[in-house]
Amino acid sequence: MLTEYHCHVLPGIDDGSDSVETSLAMLEMMKEQGVERVVFTPHFYCHREKSVESFLEKRQAAFEAVRDKSPIKNMLLGAEVAVEHGISEVKDIEKLAIQGTRLILMELPYREYKEWMYEEIYNISAEYKLKEIIAHVHRYLEYCSKEQMTDILSKNAIYQINNEAFGSFSQRRFVKRIIKGDLPVIFGSDAHNISSRRPNWDLLKKKCGGDEIKESDKLIDKYFV
Ligand SMILES: [Fe+2]
Repeated sequence: MLTEYHCHVLPGIDDGSDSVETSLAMLEMMKEQGVERVVFTPHFYCHREKSVESFLEKRQAAFEAVRDKSPIKNMLLGAEVAVEHGISEVKDIEKLAIQGTRLILMELPYREYKEWMYEEIYNISAEYKLKEIIAHVHRYLEYCSKEQMTDILSKNAIYQINNEAFGSFSQRRFVKRIIKGDLPVIFGSDAHNISSRRPNWDLLKKKCGGDEIKESDKLIDKYFV
């Protein structure tokens, strides 16, 4: 079951879809590209939110606005949780795990990797028995040294790759190395709209092996509770 693990489809909740129409158009594109299951992962920036609880209420309202009309019926709610100082101490943080699973999608800051970042992630996964997914791990090539990337890749996490990585020479090389190294990998479009950051499963299917995509699709099964 082709699974979209990372996207900003829910309307009006972050910098992704700005309307129900756009959300439905994104889902329609995904369906045409073969997606059968979608995890909605709106951004959660702790410093911008009143509480996890109020974020969850907003997310639920956005979900209800598209739920009945969605051409893809298999939908799960999640979030892309930005790593910030103190994030592991935030009340109800564990409720941002992907619905019905022990998986939580974490986004590292866009700067040089520092140890405190993984301490926050580790505290969440250890405290709540969750398995962390590092969002679009290839993006940090731009900010991190080779040693820092090696460190990030040694964390026993699940590594999420944006489909777009296969469209860039250097990122593709990096991503293929991760896959070859047998690290657990999942794919997502990280789509935000229907133009500049549209669903791009067509690209992934063209550039990546079917077996790797199947492994990604199956991985969630191990983490349902
Ligand atoms: Fe994202």
